[in-house]
Amino acid sequence: MKADICDADAVATVFKEYAIDGVIHLAAESHVDRSITDPLAFVRTNVFGTVTLLNAAKEAWKGAMDGKRFYHVSTDEVYGSLHDDSLFLETTPYDPQSPYSASKAASDHFVRAYGNTYKLPFVLSNCSNNYGSHHFPEKLIPLMINNIRNNKPLPVYGKGENVRDWLWVEDHASAIDTIFHTGKNGETYNIGGHNEWKNIDLVHLLCRIMDQKLGRAEGESAKLITYVTDRAGHDLRYAIDAGKIERELGWKPSITFEVGLERTVEWYLANTEWLDHVTSGAYQQYYSAHYAQQ
Ligand code: DAU
Repeated sequence: MKADICDADAVATVFKEYAIDGVIHLAAESHVDRSITDPLAFVRTNVFGTVTLLNAAKEAWKGAMDGKRFYHVSTDEVYGSLHDDSLFLETTPYDPQSPYSASKAASDHFVRAYGNTYKLPFVLSNCSNNYGSHHFPEKLIPLMINNIRNNKPLPVYGKGENVRDWLWVEDHASAIDTIFHTGKNGETYNIGGHNEWKNIDLVHLLCRIMDQKLGRAEGESAKLITYVTDRAGHDLRYAIDAGKIERELGWKPSITFEVGLERTVEWYLANTEWLDHVTSGAYQQYYSAHYAQQ
């Protein structure tokens, strides 16, 4: 069944019809740039939607919380922006800096509040940047792949000095599976790839891979790099200490970034129809409105 998580009746019906004893909550508005243009959409889905889902679980599981589990999937952005060489730990104080991360931080707080107030059994995880197949090309890696393919400018925000910690999406999925089945109630687990890249270095790496795959001369795609106005309030660096999930649950990433990125590029080049389909219509309007201001 497909429904809006803000629709309390629809969500309650799902709990009634399917005798649900576990929830893995991934539904969210996720793109920082969109949250800068339309913060309320993020409050609606990420905060109101999460609380709607929490309420439905609380009501459905009332008096029978044993063996139930509400798993809330969140982001490392709730910890804010790093300006030294430290790493985010599960104990790092929340310091969200964008409307997106503020909405995710609020949803995390609600999950913990339901655990404390209504004894709802929960687990929570905060993950670093994902990459891989089926990633909507509003995000850095698929956007760059798509623009290189189409010989369009590669918009690098500011000086390209911002650092992100990249994890292959299937490794995130395996971490979620591990936490759901073996994590401890009430605990938070950070998930990350120990894989920090400055944006500009990552874009150059993608250009080199694409040159090879498309049979272009070395350095050809890099000519498309264009520095544009920085994102408002752009977080400088995110980096996760994933020691807890590794030590306590035995999870670690299964592949290196080199392998993951190569697989990712190959997936997009083999699925150009998908790319063309998702970048038609509303995407074009978003793209021209967002990048025209640059
Ligand atoms: O850290 C986890 C988060 O990673 C997730 O919670 C978010 O849902 C996800 O969108 C991602 O947030 P970022 O803002 O880090 O991802 P994004 O792909 O938008 O940008 C990655 C970096 O690249 C960031 O420093 C901004 C920069 N960038 C992005 C775009 C779209 C550019 O320089 N040019 C661009 O056109």
